[in-house]
Amino acid sequence: MENVFLMEHPLIQHKISMLRDKATGTNEFRKLVEEIAVLMGYEALRDLPMEEVEVETPLEVCKTPMIAGRKLAIVPVLRAGLGMVNGLLTLVPSAKVGHIGLYRDHETHEPHEYYCKLPDPIEERLVVVLDPMLATGGSAKAAVDFIKEKGGKNIKFMCVIAAPEGIERLHKAHPDIQIYCGHLDRCLNKDAYICPGLGDAGDRIFGTK
Ligand code: PRP
Ligand code: URA
Repeated sequence: MENVFLMEHPLIQHKISMLRDKATGTNEFRKLVEEIAVLMGYEALRDLPMEEVEVETPLEVCKTPMIAGRKLAIVPVLRAGLGMVNGLLTLVPSAKVGHIGLYRDHETHEPHEYYCKLPDPIEERLVVVLDPMLATGGSAKAAVDFIKEKGGKNIKFMCVIAAPEGIERLHKAHPDIQIYCGHLDRCLNKDAYICPGLGDAGDRIFGTK
């Protein structure tokens, strides 16, 4: 599928397997999510625009490539997306961070917005949306809808685990955005949880339940 990128790196797969284990506690879970975000971010940002700048080495002046501009916006979907933010900031410390608050209704599984604050000017930035779980795709679709309504044009979405239903819904609604997925799981269950999945990502990151 064009614009959908499944991660294959052994380090990412290994860490995702550790995340799935119900014996993995909050502290380790949080660290793993951050590490996976670093590894996935490295892949997802490989097409960042570059420019040649002049640098004086101890030997001579040379033209050498650096990332062009400082126009990256990282936008976690609350709550669970917060767990991936520091991973991306490790790679691009100067990035601005927006937030979109969404929760899934327990009955309908449809997303409800409760917060949205994005860095200005959003239309000039590459926006990287973070959410570890892409289940029905409702939350991711709504998050990208908001960003586009506010002017965002250049958007990537990163998730650790996706269900086929989520990838299909997000890709169908927004075929122009790149979707980076750590692992594609089997299916959703009747409560719209990803199987085998890792359970409730927000609860596991923040130690709630
Ligand atoms: C989870 C997850 C996603 C959403 C995915 O959030 O972090 O945002 O579900 O499901 P979907 O693809 O079916 O929309 P949740 O609603 O549980 O909120 P939380 O992060 O605050 O726990
Ligand atoms: N949200 C989660 O945190 N986990 C799932 O499996 C589905 C949605």
